[in-house]
Amino acid sequence: MISTVLTNIGELTTQDHERPLTDAAVVVEGSRIAWVGPAVEAPAADEQVDAGGRAVIPGFVDSHSHLVFAGDRAAEFAARMAGEPYAAGGIRTTVAATRAASDEQLTSHVARLVAEMRAQGTTTVEIKSGYGLSVHDEARSLAVARQFTEETTFLGAHVVPADTDPSAYVDLVTGPMLEACAPHARWIDAFCEDGAFDADQARTVLQAGAAVGLRGRLHANQLTYGEGVRLAAELGLTAVDHCTYLTDADVAALADSGTIATLLPGVEFSTRHPYPDARRLLDAGVTVALASDCNPGSSFTSSVPFCIAIAVREMGMTPAEALWAATAGGARALGRDDVGVIAPGRRADLVLLDAPSAVHLAYRPGVPLVAGVWQAGRPAAVTG
Ligand code: NIG
Ligand code: FE
Repeated sequence: MISTVLTNIGELTTQDHERPLTDAAVVVEGSRIAWVGPAVEAPAADEQVDAGGRAVIPGFVDSHSHLVFAGDRAAEFAARMAGEPYAAGGIRTTVAATRAASDEQLTSHVARLVAEMRAQGTTTVEIKSGYGLSVHDEARSLAVARQFTEETTFLGAHVVPADTDPSAYVDLVTGPMLEACAPHARWIDAFCEDGAFDADQARTVLQAGAAVGLRGRLHANQLTYGEGVRLAAELGLTAVDHCTYLTDADVAALADSGTIATLLPGVEFSTRHPYPDARRLLDAGVTVALASDCNPGSSFTSSVPFCIAIAVREMGMTPAEALWAATAGGARALGRDDVGVIAPGRRADLVLLDAPSAVHLAYRPGVPLVAGVWQAGRPAAVTG
């Protein structure tokens, strides 16, 4: 097995130590981290990479994305920026385009977006279905997603398709669609919101998924107040995502249950809703993750650094908290303990920044700072 020492790291954020290490080194053996510590004490290795005094962080864990789609909704975005509101119904536009696309078209589109994410430092990504909404199109969406990640999520309950009775559709999602999709999925999700599914329907979907071994996550409280976050807490879901409109009771339920709040600031950027209040959640003891929610309707960004910059500037997070939320926090939101942290035995997912510290992710917004990416020990995208 080849070993590599990445040395002369000016600032190393491990998420395993209280503070970043300075003048540090990391030894990688095969796909795993073998050693972390001061550069002067690093053991010998077959190969050496000089970080040039720059910062190294864990690869981002983007725990929420909808990459399997076709079509473009730039006109809808432009209309919103001219004053139109965002509505869940826009999903149906993408459903029509996705159904019309071939498997090859969907696969190459996902490949392009995953490469775009990786070049920006993402080394683990969750991918949802949800733009097929038929047994055939949901199952093939998940089969496409599975080619890129283990973290696939069945989101048949994204919206009720046009000209379909809602209760008949929930029967379909929890019956034949679930049966066809479960072999390709690790998670089950629902969009609990006005214009999508109510809390009773979401509960039915999540319980049906649990009965066939799928773990639950939920889209909730994105566009208005509602029961979704409390449902997620009550069911003990791993994560509940969006969390934009929260009452004190919602925040308390999250703190008590340990359900992770995944905040998706690309959505508020693109819908002009207010940003979620990360500070309020953190101060209440809630674990917060950050993710891109990359999708063609509400958040067409693949950039976790962009989300970190917004979280720091607009949501009350410190740079260190935002970086934790996008690495170790994302890993927790996926129930993973092998990624999101740089420590011996973990997967060797590392990002070299063209900056002396990780604070630059928010301090230099919009600047491509990712100079190198290692995914499971392999160099994935080295641009500088
Ligand atoms: O996470 N909220 C529901 N689903 C996506 C948006 C989907 C769309 O508008 O196409 C989201 O924001
Ligand atoms: Fe989403």
